[in-house]
Amino acid sequence: MNKKITILAIETTCDDTAISIVEYNNNNFNIISNLISSQIKDHNPFGGVVPELASRIHIKNIIPVLDKNITDLKKYYKSEKNTFEILRENIDYIAITNKGGGLIGSQVVGVETAKTLSFLLDKPIVSINHIRAHILASFFNFNDDKNSGTIENISFPIIALTISGGHTQLVLIKDFSTWEIIGKTTDDAAGECFDKIAKLLDLGYPGGPIISKLAENGNPESIKFPRPMINSKDLNFSFSGLKTAVLYHFNELKESEKKDEQIISNICASSQQAIIDVLSKKSLDAIEKYTPGLFILAGGVAANKRLRETLKNEVKKYNTEFLMPEIPLCMDNALMVNIAAYFNILNNVDIFDYKSIKSNINRTI
Ligand code: KG4
Ligand code: ZN
Repeated sequence: MNKKITILAIETTCDDTAISIVEYNNNNFNIISNLISSQIKDHNPFGGVVPELASRIHIKNIIPVLDKNITDLKKYYKSEKNTFEILRENIDYIAITNKGGGLIGSQVVGVETAKTLSFLLDKPIVSINHIRAHILASFFNFNDDKNSGTIENISFPIIALTISGGHTQLVLIKDFSTWEIIGKTTDDAAGECFDKIAKLLDLGYPGGPIISKLAENGNPESIKFPRPMINSKDLNFSFSGLKTAVLYHFNELKESEKKDEQIISNICASSQQAIIDVLSKKSLDAIEKYTPGLFILAGGVAANKRLRETLKNEVKKYNTEFLMPEIPLCMDNALMVNIAAYFNILNNVDIFDYKSIKSNINRTI
């Protein structure tokens, strides 16, 4: 594509109200605005996301976030024009996550905002699948300023492991229009497992970052937790048995041990290692089976440093390239939606007018 295009992308699938504006020019990108209003503090007391609360907070936050994006846009173009004019003149597409999982009440807030913008500005909407967006976030190749860079070339076939609070999937991408789930969890998602273990250890929410931090001081081999389905012949996962094993282990401890920092760190390190072992083994099984040119690690759990190191080193042993998003782009954000829209526009797929856009939270790819 030789044309300069600017995309405004919205993500409200779960508990982040996120909007970004990115300008693309011949595979170069420039971030004009990238904002996230997180609800972690609101959901923390409940040990997980409360859907009704999440949608209400999205409603409260989305226009103030958009207002700040527009301020950034005005600054970028050093323009005194009014909001309508600056958007109408500079935004070419509105992108919205309206499929691939999440909470319906949350997603609808973003979808209706995107439809309103599309209607008023008379610009097309690009429909984005949340899971695809997590994967495509790895194609941002940032300059040192972390604000601009180039888009990596895509070489198919690709295998992607997408792991977050809501999903755990191995995806085979044969070409841009052929995405197939080749493995998935049969019960809890990997991130959900981190979150539930943290909840039963009374460590707070979200569990992944807390457990990985405490794990740094623990011994990953101190407790032999189960690695469910690690040797199953398929590419599916199961995490609920691991969570139960941690619960039984914790319940057996004396009250004083339950408060012992080293003991808790050992539980964190050992359970994290069990999750990493299963995720790595299944990823390598998928690589052996499909011999992809590229492997991508994506989703919120891909922020886990030990997992990043392990998979990077393991995948290197095969003749397979490895990509993963920068850590801040692993969790839900609007840059991943933006780049997914860029690829959709390049491939001329999933571009609609506002009347054809609907919310859908099925975990399809
Ligand atoms: O992608 P994401 O932001 O939201 C969903 O689409 O679900 O993922 C959130 C999940 C949470 O379960 C959180 O505990 C997990 O990602 N997570 C991590 C880490 N950072 C976030 N899990 C393990 N280690 C981390 N460092
Ligand atoms: Zn997500």
